[in-house]
Amino acid sequence: MTASTETMTPETWLDQGLRSLWYPVAASWELGSNPLGLTRMGENIVLWRDHEGVAHAVEDRCPHRGARLSKGWNLGDRLACWYHGVEVDHEGVVRDVPAIANSPLVGKPCVRHYHVQEQHGAIFVWFGTTADEEPAELVLPEQLSNSDEYGHFLCTATWQCNYQYAIDNVMDPMHGTYLHSDSHSMAEGDRKAEMTLVPTDSGFIFKKTEQAGVNFDWVEYGASGALWLRLSIPYQKKFGPGGPFWIIGMVVPEDEQHCRVFFWRVRQVEGWQRQAWRFMYRTKLEGLHWDVLEQDRVILENLAPDARHHENLYQHDVGLSRLRRVMLKMAKQQLAQRQESAHA
Ligand code: FES
Ligand SMILES: [Fe+2]
Repeated sequence: MTASTETMTPETWLDQGLRSLWYPVAASWELGSNPLGLTRMGENIVLWRDHEGVAHAVEDRCPHRGARLSKGWNLGDRLACWYHGVEVDHEGVVRDVPAIANSPLVGKPCVRHYHVQEQHGAIFVWFGTTADEEPAELVLPEQLSNSDEYGHFLCTATWQCNYQYAIDNVMDPMHGTYLHSDSHSMAEGDRKAEMTLVPTDSGFIFKKTEQAGVNFDWVEYGASGALWLRLSIPYQKKFGPGGPFWIIGMVVPEDEQHCRVFFWRVRQVEGWQRQAWRFMYRTKLEGLHWDVLEQDRVILENLAPDARHHENLYQHDVGLSRLRRVMLKMAKQQLAQRQESAHA
């Protein structure tokens, strides 16, 4: 958060990532007992779990001479730097400088700390527009928040592209019929469609006007403390209980050229049906899903350089262009807010 915003444009702000949002930064299973260093939103962050298993996050930089705290030791309520042992707690406060007596650093907040919460198999971190912005409430779609009725698997991957391409990709249902035409779930339906936008409380739905319940026929964008995308794809009976297959997608920028995608794959299944779905997923469906996701990754990582700035959009791209305008507006507001707070 130290880079000057004086010379920034809303477009460059947007390229780096919208703020005032919660983002999933890692799957829960990725954070074990060792500190975990990551880059998200262009910031180096170290995550760790205390003795109760609660996840914490601070800037991954030792206040002494800048070693990566993620290379150090997890002492539960604090991390110890590997280089000379300085200890930092989850509020970024130096708790001990073991190499000398009476260091004035002890008790000082020296590194930035982050608000963290763990939900639905992911660790979420709050990225404020200004350093002291309090987190918003995180409200997730019913397919995640209602865990009695819905069961999910979280799949996550790093893609070598700006995060906006990953969003554009999900906002584009028509690619299912082409890019994924050989897949187990997206082989059916018309290869031509008219599309339309329908507003919702937290965003909008972009859908085919003539076809529903056949293929990837609609997608929804929502903003409720986090930005999320939701869609459903009908499933044939042979793929087990639970009706349509839901996907809740989120993406966090790592830096301007890389992003981390999170896709929760959800079905409405309880009790034995959930067990059956979990078994089928593990033994059969997961591999098929990875094949589909690989198709997306290969296309996106190989788009022409700067593809977004040399496009000829048509009617099927109305959803993604609407979302781009929404996001640019957010970027403008956030940049103005940041500049104002820098002057204050
Ligand atoms: S750099 Fe971390 S203790 Fe010296
Ligand atoms: Fe896709």
